[in-house]
Amino acid sequence: MAFPPSFLDELVARNPIEEVVGQYVNLKRSGSNLFGLCPFHGEKTASFSVSPDKGIYYCFGCHKGGGVINFEMEIEGLSYPDAVRALAKRAGMEVPEDEQYQSRYRQQERLWALSREAARFFVSQLYAPAGAEGLTYARKRGMTKSTLTKFGIGFAPNTWTALTDAMKAKGYTDEELKESGLVSVSSKNGRIYDRFRNRLMFPIIDVRGNVIGFGGRVMDDSTPKYLNSPETIIFNKRKNLFALNLAKKSKLGYLILVEGYMDAVALHQYGFDCAVASLGTSLTEEHAVLLSRYTQQVVLIYDGDEAGQNATRRAIPMLEKAGLQVKVLKMRDAKDPDEFLKKYGADRFKLLLEESSNRVEYQLGAIRGKYDLREDEQKVRFLSEAAELIAGLPNAVQREVYGQRVAETAKVSMEAVRMEVERSRKRILTREKRKQEQIDLAPASMLQRRGSTKVTYDNVKSGKAEEYLIAALLTEPALLGQCGTLKAEDFSVPLYEKVYRQITARDHAGYTASIDTLADLTPDETSHLTGIYRSFGTVNEQAFLDCIQTIQSEHRTSSVQTADDLMAVREQLKQRKGMKS
Ligand code: CTP
Ligand code: MN
Repeated sequence: MAFPPSFLDELVARNPIEEVVGQYVNLKRSGSNLFGLCPFHGEKTASFSVSPDKGIYYCFGCHKGGGVINFEMEIEGLSYPDAVRALAKRAGMEVPEDEQYQSRYRQQERLWALSREAARFFVSQLYAPAGAEGLTYARKRGMTKSTLTKFGIGFAPNTWTALTDAMKAKGYTDEELKESGLVSVSSKNGRIYDRFRNRLMFPIIDVRGNVIGFGGRVMDDSTPKYLNSPETIIFNKRKNLFALNLAKKSKLGYLILVEGYMDAVALHQYGFDCAVASLGTSLTEEHAVLLSRYTQQVVLIYDGDEAGQNATRRAIPMLEKAGLQVKVLKMRDAKDPDEFLKKYGADRFKLLLEESSNRVEYQLGAIRGKYDLREDEQKVRFLSEAAELIAGLPNAVQREVYGQRVAETAKVSMEAVRMEVERSRKRILTREKRKQEQIDLAPASMLQRRGSTKVTYDNVKSGKAEEYLIAALLTEPALLGQCGTLKAEDFSVPLYEKVYRQITARDHAGYTASIDTLADLTPDETSHLTGIYRSFGTVNEQAFLDCIQTIQSEHRTSSVQTADDLMAVREQLKQRKGMKS
């Protein structure tokens, strides 16, 4: 749907880009721009810039860019209309709704509301007679009243339709209940019934405070121990973490990542209010990027068993790729943090945290644990595996320090370790060089396909002029008055033609165009345009007029050429016909 231009202009004005971006990225001012770590690709140096004057963001690393609406789309994974709705909500504005437009956002809003109602219902049940058993169980697990409240923990009663009935009484339909994942459908009679029964209920809340799903725990040894909401249009396990809504406000300066809901809850109760848990799935890259929006350091705490170690090994590179500093805490003397805290208390846990090693120490420890160093052959294998790890470290001091440690552990000379590391490094470098060569040698067409919609100029002369002209018009919209006879058809680059068309259309309606209000652009096109606009200085009027000339004359020559080409083809056809007859 098309939103009215006046509405869009006000929306953009009331959502200053530095404020909206500032909710996700820590920005520091430098001159008239602000800089921070790009939320769209993992990085350690700030190449992400925001220009409040132009109302745009642009990353010099990954070349993503756009206005505030584009930012909202990218960061929350929303469509254009949904991003507009989210920003309207943020600014407390009413959205002019198109009756015919069945927005996914409206559907989402219904499910958010339904899930919140369900959470309230579960809480009320925990303190009702039907929930007595649940409350006893929660107490037995050591949860205080304030913890229960803080997490919104509730209880699903042991009946088939308690929740369904309560939600229907509030006006939610069977269809909506099915979409929310809160009910199952009977294969016998097709009726719906409560999915969660006789379970302690943990609501899962996203960073914006919406209830998006639930995890329900049984109170005995039956299985499954936890039942989780299925994926729905509001619940994506790959993109959300339990308790991040609370942990993002922590003042501790790091985040703790654990496996279990109960572990996160216990950590918060014992003062470690920076704990989050994954949702019964393994860590994803999306999780890592999400975490990197709120912190620079993550402490991983996985169970000590083999599954936990494997999970740790998988998680480390993902977190580091998102620019996070990783520490690993190896659980001991207890199965998990929850059990540990209950046995030994917060002070001893703090000691564990302080001892928690950086990931290199942790990984060296893990390698060390695999071999018996009294056996020569195993010692050799230990050295070569450790050298492989050390060779992968980016900095020479680190390689020296950990090399030293390995030498001491294995009781060999530092020289021997150094040689082993050098050998591994050569192997790694050769491997990388080969990979790079493959990229370099790949035909351009193959590379093009990956960033499929990259903007290219067939006629470079005209393309450059069009580029200047469009950037100038975005910078000084009043210049449109000087464009005289320039028409959209005169453009050679489809993107600029499209943009020019919209600028003139908006002008006819009495409004000026901006990056935010251009429609039908791909993310690549928006980024490309933003990059040009960002680096554009002030308009030189003579250059502007020259550009118009160039575009028009290039267009004329190309049309003449096309006409000539056509004549030539016709001529050829004629000749061929002549030959046949
Ligand atoms: N999990 C799950 N489904 C299961 C078992 C586990 O989704 N059937 C997920 C849950 O998110 C759980 C996490 O895996 O929190 C870790 O499992 P576990 O260590 O067994 O759970 P704890 O949180 O330690 O639970 P408790 O202390 O209540 O036994
Ligand atoms: Mn546990």
